[in-house]
Amino acid sequence: MPDVRDIPLKEFVDRQHKALDDDLSELRRSNEEEGVPLILSETEGILGLLLELTKPARILEIGTAHGYSALFFAKKLPDAHITTIERNPVMVQAAKAEFTSRKEGERIDFRVGDAAEILDDLVDELADADESEKFDFVFIDAAKSHYREFLEAAEKICTEKALIACDNILLKGWIVQAEGSAAKRHRTNIKYMKKFLEYLRSREDVEVSILTGGDGLAIIRFINDK
Ligand SMILES: C[S@@+](CC[C@H](N)C(=O)[O-])C[C@H]1O[C@@H](n2cnc3c(N)ncnc32)[C@H](O)[C@@H]1O
Repeated sequence: MPDVRDIPLKEFVDRQHKALDDDLSELRRSNEEEGVPLILSETEGILGLLLELTKPARILEIGTAHGYSALFFAKKLPDAHITTIERNPVMVQAAKAEFTSRKEGERIDFRVGDAAEILDDLVDELADADESEKFDFVFIDAAKSHYREFLEAAEKICTEKALIACDNILLKGWIVQAEGSAAKRHRTNIKYMKKFLEYLRSREDVEVSILTGGDGLAIIRFINDK
């Protein structure tokens, strides 16, 4: 199974991408050159559309890397506040530099540490919060084997109308077809992602749209009360 970006149709879609501004275009270029993980441009297009349509005020991101997607959110929605979580010290150092060197960084609350622990802190901090203080958009883009726990923690601190987007649902296609070393190397992620999708299907209180754009995105919304 080739990398999704090597599929001609995906390459074609990728070439249609227009960066929000020169700064993000340069940041994408340097992240890609250095092999830093970041959202695919097709994913950026889908997330951008969702943000434009729903205009969230408070965005929670799990998985910052060098801060590309957090800066994209901040630039896309000039009034939004973004909280983003990262645990890898190398990523943390790089993201801090990206955030402090831009005015958008002032609207980014960068939380450093393991997402499970930081989410617990946020649940405590927001225990008595009203709807306006909770998150109305969540982007899950971290350890693939922990999506269920990230979702279950995030939903405690988001509004009833929140959208939750989970990236890399298709795991570069390995979710349906993995051979040889890829099958071995990624078997844990494949197993957990399949379990996560089964879990989502089993929940009657959420509506889930699985989009094949980018590396696959699950868009979750709560039906009535969460
Ligand atoms: C795919 S990258 C995020 C890319 C970023 N959202 C972007 O598009 O610019 C995933 C990041 O999640 C971080 N991560 C993975 N598991 C984590 C965890 N349990 N807690 C905090 N960060 C985690 C990794 O260190 C990595 O930097």
